[in-house]
Amino acid sequence: MKKITIPYLWELKRKGEKVVLLTAYDYMMAAIEDMLGVEVILVGDSYGTTLMGYSDTLPVTMEEMLVATRAVARAVKNAMLIVDMPFMSYQVSPEDAIRNAGRFMKIEGVDGVKLEGGVDIAPTVERLVKCGIPVMGHVGLLPQSIKQVGGYRARGRTDTEIKQLIADAKALESAGAFCIIVEAVKKEVTPLIKEAVDIPVYGIGAGPHCDGQILVVYDILGLTLLPKVPKFVKKYVDIKSIIEAAIKQYIEEVKSGRYPDDKHSY
Ligand code: KIV
Repeated sequence: MKKITIPYLWELKRKGEKVVLLTAYDYMMAAIEDMLGVEVILVGDSYGTTLMGYSDTLPVTMEEMLVATRAVARAVKNAMLIVDMPFMSYQVSPEDAIRNAGRFMKIEGVDGVKLEGGVDIAPTVERLVKCGIPVMGHVGLLPQSIKQVGGYRARGRTDTEIKQLIADAKALESAGAFCIIVEAVKKEVTPLIKEAVDIPVYGIGAGPHCDGQILVVYDILGLTLLPKVPKFVKKYVDIKSIIEAAIKQYIEEVKSGRYPDDKHSY
């Protein structure tokens, strides 16, 4: 299989073929996803909530994202590899955004960056694209702005919100973004966003009408300590229970002296 490129993703959109996107934050998971044919791997800043134990994505730093990205990049051979720019790594100024995006792009294998926001962030997107840095947009629910809007609420519930979503998508396309992630938007609204732009629109909690779907890998594996996951998350396996059973058995065997037995001793 060849490395996935932007023209290839556009071609899939023209053909009406759905694209599979998934997050990864470490070498092993990225290698499995890449081998199985996931087309776009995102080193999401959800790294902060899934692996660092932060309660939201705001504390995630450039240094943390760089470590995760280097691990993932070593594993990815075919998928397109996109990195989330963490909170405050692109909001201060376009120059700051270029400098920080450049640190990710310098890692061999990285194909682009993702930024949250629409109209407000479009001038920064334009500057990044002019530098040759591919940008994935992100509209709808913006996890880096939850403190301002008061939580993880689905978007596109009022005419004003729908108009804003469409304006955001158009601004990102005009600025040169190669695709857009739409998060937590009512499924009836997604087709309106798709009609407004020509670039692919990938969804996370945005219903079935998207050009592809992205989810957080630990959510689909059932590896989360959160008491409540978003409505759109589908748990394909309960890895947490499997891990718990294995560790419980290990504890029991060590305590009782059943491990190590002859088979596991020199
Ligand atoms: O960080 C993340 O996981 C994301 C989602 C869109 C997948 O940004």
